[in-house]
Amino acid sequence: MKELNTGSREHTAQNSRRLLSSRLYDLFMVPLEAGGIARLRRRIIPRADGKVLEVGAGTGVNLKYYDFLNVSSLTVSDHEPGRLLRKRAFSCGAEVAEADVTQLPFEDSSFDTLVFTLLFCSVEDPKAGLKEIKRVVKPGGKIIFIEHVLGCSRLTQRIQHSLTPFWRRISGNCHLNRETYELISDSGFTIEKRFTKAGCVLSSGIGRR
Ligand SMILES: C[S@@+](CC[C@H](N)C(=O)[O-])C[C@H]1O[C@@H](n2cnc3c(N)ncnc32)[C@H](O)[C@@H]1O
Repeated sequence: MKELNTGSREHTAQNSRRLLSSRLYDLFMVPLEAGGIARLRRRIIPRADGKVLEVGAGTGVNLKYYDFLNVSSLTVSDHEPGRLLRKRAFSCGAEVAEADVTQLPFEDSSFDTLVFTLLFCSVEDPKAGLKEIKRVVKPGGKIIFIEHVLGCSRLTQRIQHSLTPFWRRISGNCHLNRETYELISDSGFTIEKRFTKAGCVLSSGIGRR
């Protein structure tokens, strides 16, 4: 009985820590959202249609941008889905799945649209994650993405490379210097539309399997 109590106290403490870090994440994102990310989300997330899976959904910040008239079902997943994501998903009828993007618990060709935003900076093996995404999207299905990537100017790159070792330690493995756009296009997706200029530190687009 004693052990059970300790376990549930630890569980509650862990949940509270996660909720606090989710709230802090949203707070940290406020200026970045205002600086352009929210505008990108508003432009591209409503293009998700059919059976939709979002991976690395975090606190569920994209949920308010979906056009539910075009979405037949929505599953939001994360390798550590928190209470905030569950609460936000519940309020718009989306399902929540605990899933690592490198090992998705879904059949091949299950989804019409795969959404990921600000995910691949922190995935340990991004190539494996993109391979999984390709496996679960239907042939002809689409991916919708926003990622921050290595910039094009020498100065920007130098700053990104030098900050990354420190930044990834305090930010849950976030790399500021990944060439995620190239990783996506080399993973067998045809990029149909880009919403950011090449060379910009934000990369956003729609690709097709
Ligand atoms: C920077 S947050 C982005 C959250 C949200 N997509 C957004 O646009 O604000 C990265 C998220 O990816 C999740 N994540 C990191 N590695 C993952 C993995 N291998 N599989 C699934 N989710 C992962 C983290 O838990 C976190 O919620």
